[in-house]
Amino acid sequence: MLRRITNLFNRKEMADENMLLQSVDRNRIPKHIAIIMDGNGRWARRRGMPRSLGHRAGAETLRNVVKLCSELGVQYLTCYAFSTENWKRPQDEVSFLMDLLVEYLEKEIEELHNNNVRINAIGRLDELPSQAQQALARAFHKTGNNTGLTLNLALNYGGRREITDAVIEIVNRVNKGEIKCEEINDVLIGQSLYTAGMPDPELLIRPSGDCRISNFLLWQLAYTEFWLSDVMWPDFQRQHLLEAIVGFQQRERRFGGLIKK
Ligand code: FPP
Repeated sequence: MLRRITNLFNRKEMADENMLLQSVDRNRIPKHIAIIMDGNGRWARRRGMPRSLGHRAGAETLRNVVKLCSELGVQYLTCYAFSTENWKRPQDEVSFLMDLLVEYLEKEIEELHNNNVRINAIGRLDELPSQAQQALARAFHKTGNNTGLTLNLALNYGGRREITDAVIEIVNRVNKGEIKCEEINDVLIGQSLYTAGMPDPELLIRPSGDCRISNFLLWQLAYTEFWLSDVMWPDFQRQHLLEAIVGFQQRERRFGGLIKK
């Protein structure tokens, strides 16, 4: 009986997904999607499980989302995996997240590589535990020449820290005489951020009901379309990503101007 109900659910999900896939305009896939992967802890608690199992389930969701982004031809996927503020969490949760990162990179690397995914990371990587830094270095080395989706993991990342680092870099360059003060503009600032060379995200997805930026990509999100959902990240399915993309494609983006009618 239970198996029959599960099958019915699965069939319905596949039907929903197929309908959404038909609604997606393949010529207007966002080049860059950013995701705040929120809700792992609440997802686990609601099931009477430790928070760590929520993070583990969240890693599985990430795997599925990367796969779909790759299939759809998204160029950049930036996922908030660990913020500069997350160090305030209990030590065992921090250690679990760092170990999970290493495990994820080691377990997924072959499939990511076979799918032409390039792994990149933004944030103060030099402050991560050495095992995490080494796993990242291996992943960058192996996938560095891939030309498909760039999976951009935000690790020990903070938007304010990123802007502060950019300001320091620019001031140093001015002091060395490499650039003049008058040459500082938004393009130069963009080029001094961790995301230099990447287009700004067109779509930001935040699951799990909270409506805030949480120090994520403060500069880059200036004109990004937000898609908020109550679904907890571990429950976030392919169909939710497709809904977000279809919703994005229905938005009228004016960038402060007017649309010519
Ligand atoms: C926020 O949810 C989530 C995090 C701080 C960690 C995100 C990590 C993953 C999704 C694991 C996969 C990532 C990699 C790179 C392996 P929360 O725990 O704050 O949720 P809550 O608000 O419900 O407590």
